[in-house]
Amino acid sequence: MIKSCQFMIFGATGNLTYLKLLPAIYGLYKEGELCNAFQLVCIGRKRLNLDQYLESLDLKYTKQLEFETFKNHIIYKQMDFSDKKSYECLQDYLGAKNWIFYLATAPRYFETITTYLNDYGYLKEIVGFRRIVFEKPFGANFHDAKSINKHISKILEESQIFRIDHYLGKEMIQNILLTRAYNSFFELLWHHDAIDYFEIVISEKSGVKNRGGYYDQSGAMKDMVQNHMFQIVSLLAMDLPETLIPESIQEEKAKVLKKIEVTDNIVIGQYNGYLNEKGIDEKSKTETFVALEVKVHTKRWKDVPFYLKTGKAMVEKYAHIVVHFKKNHTLAKDNILVIQVQPEEGIMLRVNSKEPGVSNNVTPVMMDYCHSCLKYGDEPSAYGRLLLDIILGDKSLFASWSEIESSWLAIDKLQKPELVIYDKNKPWESHIVLEKGWWQRD
Ligand code: BG6
Repeated sequence: MIKSCQFMIFGATGNLTYLKLLPAIYGLYKEGELCNAFQLVCIGRKRLNLDQYLESLDLKYTKQLEFETFKNHIIYKQMDFSDKKSYECLQDYLGAKNWIFYLATAPRYFETITTYLNDYGYLKEIVGFRRIVFEKPFGANFHDAKSINKHISKILEESQIFRIDHYLGKEMIQNILLTRAYNSFFELLWHHDAIDYFEIVISEKSGVKNRGGYYDQSGAMKDMVQNHMFQIVSLLAMDLPETLIPESIQEEKAKVLKKIEVTDNIVIGQYNGYLNEKGIDEKSKTETFVALEVKVHTKRWKDVPFYLKTGKAMVEKYAHIVVHFKKNHTLAKDNILVIQVQPEEGIMLRVNSKEPGVSNNVTPVMMDYCHSCLKYGDEPSAYGRLLLDIILGDKSLFASWSEIESSWLAIDKLQKPELVIYDKNKPWESHIVLEKGWWQRD
């Protein structure tokens, strides 16, 4: 059992709360990570009473025994975020010490909610902490993000601001830094002399589901590349700080993102049928797939491309990172290091080895470490892990403003090419890749 902490979620009837936040908080509750008296105030715009709200939750966990006691901690409150007066009644809940306000809303509400919470004095850290979590995307472009950041920084101390990116809470994304820091042979080879290129793939099987309204304004570039994928690039490309303390990690990541450039090598696609999804403009040119080349202009990564690929309505859901080392012999296959992020978690290394028996032939073999196999019990989900870090005030797995600023600058600059239409969940990928050729060099 850890420190007492209360949660207030804005955007409680949104997808994120239903699919990720409530299950994550419930998971922490089941694991005994939350104090007995914790409260979870769920604020949404829909007119629902508590029973209706509870009924609207995902049945996968609400049928579990522990949910019977968990639900006694939930309060549902209907509210219009842009109506200042409606914040007054929140003081009924805010007596307890430590509060986390989770803004699971569109970024256009960030300034308003922060302002009104502050106007009523709810953000003053008199007895306990008051921390605000800003869900990604942090803004819709560089100027928007800058204005949000300027505004919230006037109201809050930096220690109260948590800019979340749930990919940073995933086990194997955390493992990038640790694997680099604690294995001398990787770190000794971690530069342009030894590495040919990096590949980062996040593939999703589902389409936009019922998030069309949001997604059509973002597309894969702003929904996945500007945040999750750039964060992964920064972890791969950063110099290792002497100590892995939050400020030094953020500082090194920020240095990478300042030097990031998206080249002209871009392919964008849209799945067939996207235009018929709910909330999508019938003439929309929004991309649901993107493959792009990124360069990091530092000495360490001179001429080393990072190939990023992500899409919805793909063949399967998975995410992995592949590091391709340079070949040292024509008979050898290139050594690769595969970091499997999901669904399986693990690390694989391809080495060249003698074939068993009398021959002297060399053959590539995979050494395979299964990370998920070592897990016991229910580990916290990525969101669960990050919520625990917020309670503890640990910012190692959160993005600083400087990182977000540079990410937006790089994305805002790029020119999108013509859109390619692809068939939903069909093995079309190799077709588009072969056609363009540049980004998969195997
Ligand atoms: C979110 C995006 O940040 O990440 C979604 O907004 C995407 O569009 C999701 O589906 C993917 O997360 P995960 O953890 O399922 O890979």
